[in-house]
Amino acid sequence: MKITAAITAVGGYVPEYVLTNKELETIVDTTDQWILERTGISERRILKGDRASSDMATEAVKDLLSKRPDIDILDIELIICATVSPDHVHPATANIIADKVGAKNAWGFDVNAACCSFLFSLQTGAKFIESGTHKKVLVVGADKMSCRLDYEDRNTCILFGDGAAVVLLEPNEEGLGILDAELHSDGSGLKFLNQKAGGSKVHTSLETVQNREHFIYQDGKTVFKHAVKGMADVTLSVMAKNNLTGEDIAFLVPHQANNRIISATAERAGLAPEKVMVNIHRYGNTTSATIPLCLWDWEKQLKKGDNLMLAAFGGGFTWGAIWVKWAY
Ligand code: UT7
Repeated sequence: MKITAAITAVGGYVPEYVLTNKELETIVDTTDQWILERTGISERRILKGDRASSDMATEAVKDLLSKRPDIDILDIELIICATVSPDHVHPATANIIADKVGAKNAWGFDVNAACCSFLFSLQTGAKFIESGTHKKVLVVGADKMSCRLDYEDRNTCILFGDGAAVVLLEPNEEGLGILDAELHSDGSGLKFLNQKAGGSKVHTSLETVQNREHFIYQDGKTVFKHAVKGMADVTLSVMAKNNLTGEDIAFLVPHQANNRIISATAERAGLAPEKVMVNIHRYGNTTSATIPLCLWDWEKQLKKGDNLMLAAFGGGFTWGAIWVKWAY
């Protein structure tokens, strides 16, 4: 029997501080109504103090382990951290998480594919399980987006929040787990969604800081147009390849960037609203953490054998969909 990579546990963490639309009204020229109508967001969590993405990821891993007391942290062989807000430029945040949780036998690395970081990481982790070389892989999505936001730019600062969530991948021989994936990148999308400075192209300088070039820039309208089409197209493609209809899908697990993008994808996939995981109203866009945070929130409602369609679109451009048969 073919070995597949099954998600066998989920953990999550969101910071305590709730930044509401009402509070944002006091920071930039916006309204609760505009944000809610255009995005679906009511509030988001913000990580305060000098805590970083690895601190949220560490809490998420601890949460996962608390639900699976049978697992010894020393059995974890690999940690993949999906993030666009690593603690440091280097070393990788995955290494810092491993140190903080005591995963002394694990190696690790980070994956940055903007809002598709978690999907790209999940597919990567699955390959280590399918090949038979690894038996326990943690795939974490962790982003402290608040450190990337210009709270003078109402176009972007209202959209994002902080959070982390993690899944455990283990081998399965019952045909459950990650069954198909279609992932895409198109580098010509660079100009529409980026952080200009701080990399090897535009070095950090007094000028780049003064010009506010270390924050997220987004041409929202253009990204929206590509996202609406890209996320739905790739979801439908994975469904068609595997002869799945809306009837067969228990839940769509979409990246939470904008409720209108989510609804458009669900509609084209023939999925009623109750079959769509949406928590954007509570967390905003947590980038690498959106999809695993949905799994965390819905874990109790999931049943063994449920077909889930994970889908995302993000900067790069990057986009993709993964078919998962739930394993517990
Ligand atoms: O996860 C990564 C991928 N990212 C995405 O998928 C995000 C895709 N884009 C979007 O979700 C939407 O484009 C946004 C939510 C970012 C913006 O919504 P929109 O409906 O595309 O609005 P817009 O940018 O076309 O702006 C419409 C108007 C503008 O005013 P004028 O020019 O019509 O007078 C903006 O200046 O709304 C104004 N506006 C705001 N008004 C109040 C922009 N931001 C705000 C705001 N509050 N926060």
